[in-house]
Amino acid sequence: MASLALVFNLLLATTTMFTTRHRHNILLFSTLSLFIFTPLVLADCECGYLSTTGELLPNPHNPNAPTHQQHHALFTDLIESDFTKLVPEGQGDAAISANTDWVRQAFNLSDQRARGDYGEMFAVENVLATEKLEDDQGLKLIVRREVVEDMVPVAEIDTRRLDMYWGTFRASMKMTGVSGTCAAFFWYFNDTQEIDMEFLSKDFDKSNNSYPVNLVLQSREAVLNGYDAAATSNFVKAYLPFDPTEDFHEYRIDYLPGRVYFYVDGGLLAKIDGPAVPSSAGHLILQHWSNGNKLWSGGPPGRDASLVVRYVKAYFNSSRAERQRDWEGRCKDPGAKGAVCKVPDVLPQNGTAGGWFFMDQGNMTNNQTVWGNEGAMGGRLPGIGGLAMWVCVMFLLILL
Ligand SMILES: *[C@@H]1O[C@H](CO)[C@@H](O)[C@H](O)[C@H]1NC(C)=O
Ligand SMILES: *[C@@H]1O[C@H](CO)[C@@H](O)[C@H](O)[C@H]1NC(C)=O
Ligand SMILES: *[C@@H]1O[C@H](CO)[C@@H](O)[C@H](O)[C@H]1NC(C)=O
Ligand SMILES: *[C@@H]1O[C@H](CO)[C@@H](O)[C@H](O)[C@H]1NC(C)=O
Ligand SMILES: *[C@@H]1O[C@H](CO)[C@@H](O)[C@H](O)[C@H]1NC(C)=O
Ligand SMILES: *[C@@H]1O[C@H](CO)[C@@H](O)[C@H](O)[C@H]1NC(C)=O
Ligand SMILES: *[C@@H]1O[C@H](CO)[C@@H](O)[C@H](O)[C@H]1NC(C)=O
Repeated sequence: MASLALVFNLLLATTTMFTTRHRHNILLFSTLSLFIFTPLVLADCECGYLSTTGELLPNPHNPNAPTHQQHHALFTDLIESDFTKLVPEGQGDAAISANTDWVRQAFNLSDQRARGDYGEMFAVENVLATEKLEDDQGLKLIVRREVVEDMVPVAEIDTRRLDMYWGTFRASMKMTGVSGTCAAFFWYFNDTQEIDMEFLSKDFDKSNNSYPVNLVLQSREAVLNGYDAAATSNFVKAYLPFDPTEDFHEYRIDYLPGRVYFYVDGGLLAKIDGPAVPSSAGHLILQHWSNGNKLWSGGPPGRDASLVVRYVKAYFNSSRAERQRDWEGRCKDPGAKGAVCKVPDVLPQNGTAGGWFFMDQGNMTNNQTVWGNEGAMGGRLPGIGGLAMWVCVMFLLILL
């Protein structure tokens, strides 16, 4: 493969030299290349993905006016997972068990380890794609009603990559209306470096439109408090401006140096800074669990309860030297048109949308590892066919 790349690069170099010396041929060349070399077109976003982040800033020209100006953060890597494209096990390649970005988890916790009235049985069969005819398409994480050997059957799925070092992480989710579970979307390194959004279904109250979400940094302080982050300063109970069991909404965590922002549908819910903000690389986890602890998850639920996840989009920097080198190699000129791509914000007016992905655009995820997306894996290397085409056109150009 390496030698093929070398040959290709040599060809590319000579062709470039050739075309610059024969300017009148460039038009013909580029017309030809339009038809033949689509895989060789320089891709977009090679310098990364630019996301809005943080609070609104004061307007420097008029301190009294609110402004929409925001900070931006650039990220080099992405993982986009459109779970609506999944198929149930045994019905094709797009089964969750075959996904290379996400790994379903299997482990058992005793009631003591789970710190509840019951233990928890994390099992892969509780993480599954919806069937074609179900209303809400996506990935289901199920907490089952029936306790097995004193354990509540529950669900967890993790990203395979562990190198997320700063990032903006977004999940479109619809919560269960069944009381007695905790749905969690979180970034995790270890028990004292963790950023959590936790939704307790028993706390949703339609009678007074009260839909809280618990925003938590699990810190050393929380561990000293017996893992009760609610008793620390790194805990915010925010209220959602809608019923999260009725529809999908985008929940978002921005993990930046020294600060963490939480959002829903693009609106800022809270900022937490200070020493509890993690400082390591980590990974993403989706969880749906219950352990009967009346002070937190409650439950077990009276019937099987599903959290449905439509997508996860993660734009992040990597802690791996190799990925940092890849970025340096890709990103020749951050100022070039299309080199940096804006991550579209998901706002309330997008409704339940937000189903836009860089990976679906064909040329915007070059050198990224996006599962099931050909364009993402190939980089700029043409196949044997492409190489043959090159040789042909070189020949044509020489004739001209
Ligand atoms: C990449 O694809 C987008 C949408 O398909 C298109 O607008 C853009 O011009 C393409 N960019 C390049 C460099 O081919
Ligand atoms: C991510 O990495 C890029 C490239 O090194 C850098 O320009 C950018 O500032 C980093 N982002 C953050 C949030 O640190
Ligand atoms: C969890 O416990 C159940 C019930 O005893 C058992 O069938 C299952 O294999 C255990 N799972 C793991 C990952 O050990
Ligand atoms: C988590 O990682 C940090 C940084 O490496 C370390 O200081 C801390 O002790 C770790 N916490 C646990 C519970 O292992
Ligand atoms: C809504 O009612 C529940 C149950 O009475 C109560 O616990 C909760 O605090 C109320 N929420 C708000 C925002 O008033
Ligand atoms: C949401 O809507 C805004 C404005 O209507 C648009 O600029 C943005 O691209 C949309 N976001 C997505 C993810 O489609
Ligand atoms: C990214 O590009 C580098 C350099 O061409 C290559 O070594 C690496 O395998 C590529 N990674 C992916 C995920 O395409």
